[in-house]
Amino acid sequence: MDFENVIVCDHPLVQHKVTLLRDKNTGSKEFRELVHEVSMFMCYEATRDLPLKEIRIETPLGELASSKVISGRKLAFVPIMRAGLGMVDGALALVPTAKVGHVGIYRDKHNGNIAIDYYRKFPFDIANRDVIILDLMLATGVSAVKTVELVKDAGAKTVKFMCVLACPEGIKALHDAYPDVEIICGSVDEGLNEELYIIPGIGDGGDRLFGTK
Ligand code: URA
Repeated sequence: MDFENVIVCDHPLVQHKVTLLRDKNTGSKEFRELVHEVSMFMCYEATRDLPLKEIRIETPLGELASSKVISGRKLAFVPIMRAGLGMVDGALALVPTAKVGHVGIYRDKHNGNIAIDYYRKFPFDIANRDVIILDLMLATGVSAVKTVELVKDAGAKTVKFMCVLACPEGIKALHDAYPDVEIICGSVDEGLNEELYIIPGIGDGGDRLFGTK
């Protein structure tokens, strides 16, 4: 199935690590390390369109060369708690100057289509920043849509969504609400089961990251 505005990181290293994440025998320590590594690779893809400018620079040989640097776009990462927290350090390893905002969301227990945000803290200058939202899974899309709404309301310039696994239901929900939001993921899986877990998926990402089950 083809999805517009979805980038699947098909690099062999990402695919290998996603397979290790899926393995039920992968313990929390290794799971965290893998999420960190996959997040770095995906961040590489998510920042592919950062604009460059030419500067003149002195090399150790004393020559002035024309060379490229990123031209001043500012980034913010916004992990959705709790699973998105596992992706922050990997993303920051690539863009250490980025600021980090946080969003806490749960789905209403009577109506799973309603997202309730219980925490939000954004960089004060988020309106001058391009935002990359981080979450392990794009499952129903309910939390993703709410988070995009929150960061857009706060003034974010552009918004991307980076996740290890996505599924057709989540992609559709996010793109129905915000077709401009590019999704960067490690795989688009089959879909959701009755309990709204991604199949075949990785199980409960938060529990596996933090060893809570
Ligand atoms: N959240 C998870 O942790 N796992 C899923 O499969 C779906 C949502």
